[in-house]
Amino acid sequence: MTMVPGWHPAIVHFPLGLVVTAAFALGAARVLRNESTAGMLATVGTWNLCLGALGIFFALGTGLAAVIGLHVDAAAHQAIALHVKSAVVTTLLVTLVAVWRGAATAPNSRPSGFFLLMLWAATAALLVTGYRGGQNVYRHGIGVAVEPRMTEGRPPDRPAP
Ligand code: HEM
Repeated sequence: MTMVPGWHPAIVHFPLGLVVTAAFALGAARVLRNESTAGMLATVGTWNLCLGALGIFFALGTGLAAVIGLHVDAAAHQAIALHVKSAVVTTLLVTLVAVWRGAATAPNSRPSGFFLLMLWAATAALLVTGYRGGQNVYRHGIGVAVEPRMTEGRPPDRPAP
């Protein structure tokens, strides 16, 4: 039996949640005056960002698995193609900022303004990718299996009198 809806919809929420949290935590680490709070938020943001970047590769893998053997109409095909292009750009941007932050700076240091600009650009790309993923499902019905809810005009949990 094929698992519906597959792993992709479950996995994608990890990079989305982690990277968005990282963008807020690192943004706060830049503007807060208190040194120890800023350092703590910077560390939290760094870990969230690196784990989120790792999660993106699982999102890519499960996304690829979701399209294997998929047969859809032209409009749905175009929606998936847009989603995939967006996912590739997002993966490059998020990986770049995660390596930059994780390998080239101390985790508890305040991020630079330019780094935050890049991080928010990567986060925006991720949100666009997620939105386009949602369009796949909720506009084109990709990955959705419709089960019959009525039996002979009667809800299945209400037996015939
Ligand atoms: C950065 C990586 C990615 C993110 C963040 C992402 C995000 C999402 C989201 C949020 C959904 C909607 C899930 C729902 O509401 O049920 C979705 C659906 C979908 N995505 Fe992605 N995606 C990514 C990469 C990919 C890739 C690389 C592919 C294909 C090669 C792909 C193919 C699909 C398909 C076919 C759906 C429809 C639902 C399904 O069959 O699982 N995604 N994606």
